[in-house]
Amino acid sequence: MHKDSFIRLAILEDIPELANIHKRSYSKEHLTSLLPLSDLEDYYAFFLENGNEIILYEDQNIMSFVLIVDYSSFDNTANPINNIGPRIRVIVKSPFRSMKWIIQKILKRSQQKSNCPVRILSLVTDVGQKGKGLGIQLVDECEKMLKNKGVENIGCSIRKSNKASNSLFVKRGYEIEYEASNTYHYVKGL
Ligand SMILES: CC(C)(COP(=O)(O)OP(=O)(O)OC[C@H]1O[C@@H](n2cnc3c(N)ncnc32)[C@H](O)[C@@H]1OP(=O)(O)O)[C@@H](O)C(=O)NCCC(=O)NCCS
Repeated sequence: MHKDSFIRLAILEDIPELANIHKRSYSKEHLTSLLPLSDLEDYYAFFLENGNEIILYEDQNIMSFVLIVDYSSFDNTANPINNIGPRIRVIVKSPFRSMKWIIQKILKRSQQKSNCPVRILSLVTDVGQKGKGLGIQLVDECEKMLKNKGVENIGCSIRKSNKASNSLFVKRGYEIEYEASNTYHYVKGL
């Protein structure tokens, strides 16, 4: 790590930068990369405002981040959208009419059949910063933080076509919990 770089938890003020990184870094195959920036900002704000955490790596600018979502923080995991406060009403009214459907789909897809409620929902390294070990460093940091909190397992769901991400999680000891047509659902004991 450089002298001026550090890892910290994201705050609401970081969200516009996180949304920009998400937009330019995710493959177009990923549903959320099609969202307008304002909706992506709502997407991250929704998770932060509901008590979930984003760990980021910063060196003057944010270079990489990981969003960790605890599904048990939603009262009704089958339909977490029902338990969301005022922010979701803003989202639902957004010009991108299917935002509600998108969040629902992402949350449901990750949670189906899994016994692991704590999940990495996004891991993103900015364009131009990939391949420098930042993603793996943030996954390590996230596991350390969760272990200190007494969390026993962590999960994530990765599209089968996402070679970089599958390789990263397999390298860090994640094992397939179950497999769907286009997605591997991983779990790791902490
Ligand atoms: C997946 C992603 C986060 C990896 O971030 P990164 O900072 O570049 O990853 P690292 O440099 O820490 O690489 C760690 C490991 O990931 C794998 N990896 C990273 N880039 C890879 C590539 N282009 N091809 C194959 N494997 C790759 C390798 O196993 C690598 O270990 P190695 O360097 O010892 O070979 C990044 O490619 C990204 O932002 N992708 C778009 C967003 C996304 O799809 N996220 C995953 C879904 S949540």
